[in-house]
Amino acid sequence: MRITVKKFNDMHAHLREGEMLTYVVSEMIGYDHVLVMPNTRDPILEGGQARAYKAYIEKEQKSAPDTFCPLMTLQITEQTTPDMIYTAREVIIAGKVYPRGMTTNSGNGVLDYSKIYPALSAMEDIDMVLCLHGEKPGEFCLEREEQFLSIIREIMSTFPSLRIVLEHITTCAAVEYIKQAPANVAATITVHHLSLTLDDVIGAELRPHHFCKPVAKCYGDREALRNVVRSGHPRFFLGTDSAPHLRGKKECSHGCAGIFTAPSTPALICEFFQGDVEKINRFANEFGAAFYHLSPTKAHITLERWDGSPNNTPRVRMDGPVEIFTGNDDGILPWRIIHDE
Ligand code: NCD
Ligand code: ZN
Repeated sequence: MRITVKKFNDMHAHLREGEMLTYVVSEMIGYDHVLVMPNTRDPILEGGQARAYKAYIEKEQKSAPDTFCPLMTLQITEQTTPDMIYTAREVIIAGKVYPRGMTTNSGNGVLDYSKIYPALSAMEDIDMVLCLHGEKPGEFCLEREEQFLSIIREIMSTFPSLRIVLEHITTCAAVEYIKQAPANVAATITVHHLSLTLDDVIGAELRPHHFCKPVAKCYGDREALRNVVRSGHPRFFLGTDSAPHLRGKKECSHGCAGIFTAPSTPALICEFFQGDVEKINRFANEFGAAFYHLSPTKAHITLERWDGSPNNTPRVRMDGPVEIFTGNDDGILPWRIIHDE
């Protein structure tokens, strides 16, 4: 079976810097727009830094086999001023808020959300998207997302026309919350959260390559994510949260959170929708484009479903610097990209 789909829009990805950036860019086949997260080692806190980071990414793309369009963000901290937002508007399309200390490079994240209200007011004023990592600082790890809903509720009532994305949601509570929210509030969903539960992280053995923030939850939560994605709700779209870390930083006593899914997401999404081209295009391209006001995608990729024959097994690179998520232990993907135009 062969299908041709629009290149994907990934509305949440970590590209990193240095050698990791070179590697990640070389593994990103099949994407059109990619929303680039700002939690780099030197965080992106203002427009000038976002511009420099974009130029750096574009330089790396010159030697990559495929090109995507990087969409830049900056990190909103308690120190971000309205002026910083207005100045950055030429280069960024969204501001990202991390809760302090909850995930990779979030030491300068937010503890007191009222302190970012001046920045959010400026964002509402110029219609810039707010991306929220939805975990409430200080709460028990499995309850942080649900507890965060009170924070988003308050932000929405203070800034009713602000466009908000609750990112990489993992719970039934978040699904239900976004469903009843107004049209300017949406959520992203990752392939790993469609695939994993907490049992796949700590149920039998400790699986560091399945560890990410927010951590995968219960079976009912995964079912709620799967159902809403299958239902074709337009305010739930793809954001991979592809977050590469070197093997040594995952397989150690203080392992980093993050799952590298950029190379496998196209295959896993095609499998999730059983090759239904319209559904794939909507979830992985059109819904995100509509919410973020992106230009329509013209380029396509063709994928072929693996027929099970041992001669041409589509396997991800197993010896690379970063473990690539496939949802199984053999590194086998159900589809391979055969054509890119
Ligand atoms: C991300 C990373 O490594 O940058 N990790 C993760 O587990 N998702 C940060 C983030 O988005 O939380
Ligand atoms: Zn992320």
